[in-house]
Amino acid sequence: MMKRFALVMVLSLATSAHADDVADVWKAKCKSCHGEDGKAKTKMGQKESIVDLSQPAWQQAESDAEIRQVIADGSPKNTRMKAFKDRLTPQQIDALVGYIRTLKGK
Ligand code: HEC
Repeated sequence: MMKRFALVMVLSLATSAHADDVADVWKAKCKSCHGEDGKAKTKMGQKESIVDLSQPAWQQAESDAEIRQVIADGSPKNTRMKAFKDRLTPQQIDALVGYIRTLKGK
């Protein structure tokens, strides 16, 4: 009985930690330029005219692979958008693509 309870606790902790994880990565590594909501209403966002990632039109124009590539390798158009492949795991980059999708229309 206790064993089963412990297992359920571990499982629910593991799943909630996963959801928090990507939001934490966004806050730590992306939010300073892109803002909490991806609209880039930040100093850097204004200075560099960063695109509003929540815009449905942008979301539609970009494939997951394209978004993943910008995060991994940086933007060829603006070096402020750095390559994150040495700082994030492939799993974190995939999770960020998913996270950016959740910003759509917000
Ligand atoms: C130092 C500021 C800065 C940080 C931090 C930053 N970005 Fe960017 N990001 C930019 C700029 C500037 C652009 C615009 C690049 C361009 O016009 O191609 C951009 C563009 C993007 C784009 C859109 C590219 C396109 O083709 O439209 C995505 C997606 C993106 N960033 C994701 C992220 C993610 C995810 C993180 C965190 C891991 C992050 N960025 C962190 C500055 C930043």
